Amino acid sequence: MRINKFLAENGIASRRHADEMIAQNRVKINGVLATLGAIVEEGDQVFVDDQPVITKEKELEYYILNKPKGVICTVSDDRGRKTVMDFLPETAGRVFPVGRLDYETEGLLILTNDGDLSFRLTHPTSDVPKTYLARIEGTMTEKDLNRIRSGIELDGVLTKKCKAHIVETNKAYTKVHITITEGRNRQVRRMFEAIGRTVQFLKRVSIGKLKLTGLDRGEIRKLTESEVLYLQGL
Ligand code: URA
Repeated sequence: MRINKFLAENGIASRRHADEMIAQNRVKINGVLATLGAIVEEGDQVFVDDQPVITKEKELEYYILNKPKGVICTVSDDRGRKTVMDFLPETAGRVFPVGRLDYETEGLLILTNDGDLSFRLTHPTSDVPKTYLARIEGTMTEKDLNRIRSGIELDGVLTKKCKAHIVETNKAYTKVHITITEGRNRQVRRMFEAIGRTVQFLKRVSIGKLKLTGLDRGEIRKLTESEVLYLQGL
């Protein structure tokens, strides 16, 4: 980042005034007098009148989105499809989605610029429970669900044991709540496909105790402080 922008962003002076300070030899980078247009890099020490400039912490932001289906979970899409970034308010910083929901899946998605939180929630060893509402074509029995609960082989590796219960079943469809602690690619859909079932609809309704309740499709809001603390403690 250019030195005048660096000084402005850290509340020292406007860019123009910063340029004046540089011209007056009042600014140093790593002990060397700064020139106009000099670049400040990560880890550089900047001084004004021989006082160190304390850099402002990046403000951490956390959003919860009710992702609609037909939206892609990436920061940009070269095929011009709608992405989850299109739902962010203009004031949002450089946040990114935590993990993925596939194109057809809707529901709870967190977006943040907190890399630590994102890493912990999505790491393969993290066993945070994620609950989905799945509508499966046709009638299902407890016996069918037991196969899902005890683990399904996907790409040669068994899925971990999971919880599942029938919410409603009839001739046309069965609604199931399924809670998994992994995040393998299209996991829920592939688990049902593996036992010969078709998922007609899939929605993530919670991550741990964080619920989607109260957010319409496509709606987004900031997480509250207590929700953030909760996720950080998972
Ligand atoms: N399982 C799926 O099949 N899709 C998702 O998006 C998430 C879990």
